Amino acid sequence: MDRPPTEPAVVVEDLTVGYGGLMVVHGVSMTADFGTVTALLGANGAGKTTTLMTIAGHLHPSAGQVRVMGRSVNRLACHQVVRLGLSLVPEGRGLVYSMTVSENLRLHTARRARRRAEEVFDLFPSLGPLRSRRAGLLSGGEQQMLALACAISAGGRILLIDELSHGLAPVIVETLLPTVRSLARERDIAVVLVEQHVDAALRVADFVYVLNRGEVVMAGSAAEVASHATELEASYLGVTSRRP
Ligand SMILES: Nc1ncnc2c1ncn2[C@@H]1O[C@H](COP(=O)(O)OP(=O)(O)O)[C@@H](O)[C@H]1O
Ligand SMILES: [Mg+2]
Repeated sequence: MDRPPTEPAVVVEDLTVGYGGLMVVHGVSMTADFGTVTALLGANGAGKTTTLMTIAGHLHPSAGQVRVMGRSVNRLACHQVVRLGLSLVPEGRGLVYSMTVSENLRLHTARRARRRAEEVFDLFPSLGPLRSRRAGLLSGGEQQMLALACAISAGGRILLIDELSHGLAPVIVETLLPTVRSLARERDIAVVLVEQHVDAALRVADFVYVLNRGEVVMAGSAAEVASHATELEASYLGVTSRRP
């Protein structure tokens, strides 16, 4: 790839962005490196999804910079950001529920890379027997696996995941987290994970940013942030941060 070896996968500098003139993210800076999991934590409404959607090119910054693999995406459309190798697993998973597992995967995989659609069954073996099942008939955990599989089969090296744990029982989240971590480590993928559930995120992340009302209020290694977990939950994350 044509990036300098030291350029992080994602660089956000002083990002201000909002909706129809109302700014909801104010001067956020963060980076995400290849081979690591970066968690964006914060209570409901903190600006996590807005930040992720801006990195993915669905929203455009009012001020500041977003670079993906060294390239400014401020003015790019989302399909152009996808071509840089970035995949988004959106809140709500973004599946076509009337289509089967295989059909959903095919939607995301370029014709020349159809083999990759098969490789994801190695990563998520329980999806294998469900190839012909419609996505709408899968359990929540299976749907989240399929959403991850679709993003991976697109073949990029940057994976943004919005609320991995949304609507899932803790036991299901526990089975997905190691897969996310090994994706980053073993495939040198940069994962940016948005989470409301602090415990889950701190177990899987290398680096953590905490957002509150559209600003970064804490940033550090997962261990550093974990050492402030009680104070964080009391000050910024509220009851939603507790695991169900
Ligand atoms: N499409 C939208 N139009 C207007 N305001 C929005 C829209 N989406 C989100 N917001 C507002 O932006 C703020 C940040 O939302 P969001 O980024 O979704 O937070 P989070 O993902 O951390 O819960 C909230 O106040 C929310 O109400
Ligand atoms: Mg959100």
